[in-house]
Amino acid sequence: MIITISHQKGGVGKSTISWNLAVHLAKNKNVIVIDLDVQKTLTYLHQIRNKNDFSVISFNDDKSFVDYINNISDDESNDSIIIIDSGGFDSSMNRLAILGADKIITPVSSKFIEILGLQTYENILHEIEKSNGSIIKTNVVLNNINPITKDFKDIRNFINESNHFNLLNSILRQRADIANSVANGLGITEIKGNDKAIKEFKEFVKELNII
Ligand SMILES: Nc1ncnc2c1ncn2[C@@H]1O[C@H](COP(=O)(O)OP(=O)(O)OP(=O)(O)O)[C@@H](O)[C@H]1O
Ligand SMILES: [Mg+2]
Repeated sequence: MIITISHQKGGVGKSTISWNLAVHLAKNKNVIVIDLDVQKTLTYLHQIRNKNDFSVISFNDDKSFVDYINNISDDESNDSIIIIDSGGFDSSMNRLAILGADKIITPVSSKFIEILGLQTYENILHEIEKSNGSIIKTNVVLNNINPITKDFKDIRNFINESNHFNLLNSILRQRADIANSVANGLGITEIKGNDKAIKEFKEFVKELNII
């Protein structure tokens, strides 16, 4: 299964979620992370993690990435979970990551300005659909949300009107333990920390219906 974490907007939590998914799913599955982020965040985190429970790979050019995706065997795709951390911009590699995915996850915050970012992203999805002919739907997750925020009316209304977005019920709140554990090469579900943060992440994984 290929899971792509994708949004052309920067800083929404793509790398954070990719990393935490990899750490969590690697407990039971063979996990490969593809790092398309130009900052190579996950490649770096994997070095400081110093543990080989999953691997992180990256590609220098479009062709080697295309070849890799096209050559994933059925066995590999059934037995492994491939997590693609997209860069926060529009590019042919990031579009291919969307096209090749079995599941797409798009993190957003709840601020009104996020709607503009989602509109741009929706246009990109629309263009990819036109060139490919298939319908693309992504699972939008509210991430890095202030723990006291309860009103998501604007973003919910926008998402409900779109054919491309499915808003997940799970909400990932802004939790210091998420930022701190990642900085130490760890995932939220493997540290002794904020129970709420761990519960929220596990609920998110459950809702994704991956395993
Ligand atoms: N749920 C969360 N709780 C606390 N901090 C978070 C959470 N999600 C993301 N962050 C923080 O927000 C910042 C941006 O996150 P991240 O680097 O994952 O975004 P990104 O979408 O990968 O960015 P880019 O587009 O630049 O690659 C980081 O400092 C990260 O620690
Ligand atoms: Mg990133």
